[in-house]
Amino acid sequence: MRIIHTREDLREQLDGWRREREHVAIVPTMGALHAGHISLVELAREHAERIVVTVFVNPTQFGEDEDFAEYPRSLERDARQAKRAGGDLMFAPDVDTVYPVGVENATTISVPGLSENFCGSFRPGHFDGVTTVVARLFAMVQPDVAIFGQKDYQQQIVIRRMVEDLSLPIRIVTAATVRDDDGLALSSRNAYLNEDERAAAPMLYRTLCDVAKQLQDGKRNFDELEAQASAALETAGFEPEYVAIRRALDLTPPNRDCDEIVILSAARLGKTRLIDNVVVTV
Ligand code: PAF
Repeated sequence: MRIIHTREDLREQLDGWRREREHVAIVPTMGALHAGHISLVELAREHAERIVVTVFVNPTQFGEDEDFAEYPRSLERDARQAKRAGGDLMFAPDVDTVYPVGVENATTISVPGLSENFCGSFRPGHFDGVTTVVARLFAMVQPDVAIFGQKDYQQQIVIRRMVEDLSLPIRIVTAATVRDDDGLALSSRNAYLNEDERAAAPMLYRTLCDVAKQLQDGKRNFDELEAQASAALETAGFEPEYVAIRRALDLTPPNRDCDEIVILSAARLGKTRLIDNVVVTV
């Protein structure tokens, strides 16, 4: 798989594909690819003839005391994996290419409201960083389709809103979360877990599934269900940031008639922050 780093090389390649009237899908990633990312690339194959996998560890979406410096980087390995999954090109720009006037002076895209709750309230500015970089990657790649993982549920809702609000001609496709056999959602950050934490980690998904079951059984005491789930996580050794039961479409509080619900959570296990969600039709 060809790895390119510049806008010029990207444009040359895209122009060739466009001349052949081929559709382009983008799979934006921060690298350290795992089976979850591979499933995104495979899904992209169903939506476009050409697939660009981007790898960029985006500084603007990390808080000051977060893991930007330690975030795993493995470009050559990523390229081999993406190629095996059916990717055509890996675009791995550097910071100056993505932020030509510098990170400090960069034009920022912000989706108010949706970006401020849940993960947004624990990681202030995080989603501004995400929408800013995704808008830039969209501008550079000009894809027809973009693939995001359901694991980052709030992220894909925020990006959908941005695309709709800016009338970007890009279809957003959400790919199901890929899990280990014990239910833990795959994430590059799982590598930070020690043995005991790794053994406890699947409890996050189990707790969300338990809430889903109760909703399916007809329970609608949302606040109580959230509190119970937080308590269960604490008992299992997590420090929960939030457990929220929301309307799947737009993350607003559900009413009793809402039929598609998402249960979202972020919780710390030691120094690792895990997120997960379960969507349930009730
Ligand atoms: O989900 C991610 O890996 C990142 O937030 C994204 C979408 C690649 C933007 O940096």
